[in-house]
Amino acid sequence: MHRPSLLAALLSAGTALATPTPVKPAVAASSSSSAIKCPIIFDGRVPNGTAVSYFDTSNALFNPDYVKGANLKWSQILQVPSVAASKFDAGGYEPIEVTISDASIFNNQNGFRRAGLQFSSDSATGPGDSGVKTIHWSVKQDPAKPLNLTHEYLNVWHETSDYSADQFMFEAGTIIGSSGSDKNSWKILNRSSKSIWSTPIDSTQWQNFAVTMDYNKNTLQVYYSAGTAALTAVTSAVSNDNSGNGQFQLGILKKPTGTSDVVNSGYQESGMHEGQIYGGLFVEDSANGCIST
Ligand SMILES: *[C@@H]1O[C@H](CO)[C@@H](O)[C@H](O)[C@H]1NC(C)=O
Ligand SMILES: *[C@@H]1O[C@H](CO)[C@@H](O)[C@H](O)[C@H]1NC(C)=O
Ligand SMILES: *[C@@H]1O[C@H](CO)[C@@H](O)[C@H](O)[C@H]1NC(C)=O
Repeated sequence: MHRPSLLAALLSAGTALATPTPVKPAVAASSSSSAIKCPIIFDGRVPNGTAVSYFDTSNALFNPDYVKGANLKWSQILQVPSVAASKFDAGGYEPIEVTISDASIFNNQNGFRRAGLQFSSDSATGPGDSGVKTIHWSVKQDPAKPLNLTHEYLNVWHETSDYSADQFMFEAGTIIGSSGSDKNSWKILNRSSKSIWSTPIDSTQWQNFAVTMDYNKNTLQVYYSAGTAALTAVTSAVSNDNSGNGQFQLGILKKPTGTSDVVNSGYQESGMHEGQIYGGLFVEDSANGCIST
């Protein structure tokens, strides 16, 4: 069982988390938002031309303090890759790559290597934790910085405010303790860490995901497309326990191998340079069934 250890880690991580100061995005009026038809409540789209040093201090998009290696600045973690914008970024926003290295040790969690983005205005209890909300993200693989799919990766999730559970998780690689999982697939897990949908990791094109969290009906629904295609629902609204408030996180959390204490021990190869390219990061209000596709 890896889960209790992970929970302990997230718990210890969480004790240090401060509520970020909400800052109004500077680019809300961009014309590229035409593809987004519902009100945006958290905007993590990176305006074209943004330098990575922008993320080192308080900014409109992401919390500068969490979650990253103790001695790293975001400008050492984030890169702007030379790839075309993802579908919801086209026309004014750029992709952003989250990387991990041997220095990606957060809060003395020596088992993990992690770098995770939190939306600036997301907080332990806030607009992302009630009603019906949809988080969108797109991913693209960097052939120069591949993930090692022998390991388990958490890439996107929503974690309860007491850090005792994740309402959903978007994962890659080998899920510890789940022998049936295909390491080469993206997997969306529910609160019980059971896969509710998966799709092969595409090594060339953008893959676009959305998860609708309905806090009224306690359901999750997954949407997906590849390339520039419109998203389509790939699950029905499946029941889930969405209680507990909390925050979204997007990036890389790489678990070690060979341990039952994934937070603190286990094996991580040294000299790692891994990256995950993201685009189209936002959370929208899906009241009345609104969803951008
Ligand atoms: C975004 O910036 C890149 C170069 O950094 C440029 O090639 C591209 O045309 C720009 N896109 C928009 C929509 O401004
Ligand atoms: C991938 O991870 C496994 C397990 O930790 C390790 O044995 C292997 O050397 C790693 N591969 C690379 C290319 O680092
Ligand atoms: C997660 O999915 C599994 C398998 O479909 C289901 O048995 C379980 O009840 C789900 N967990 C929650 C919290 O709904």
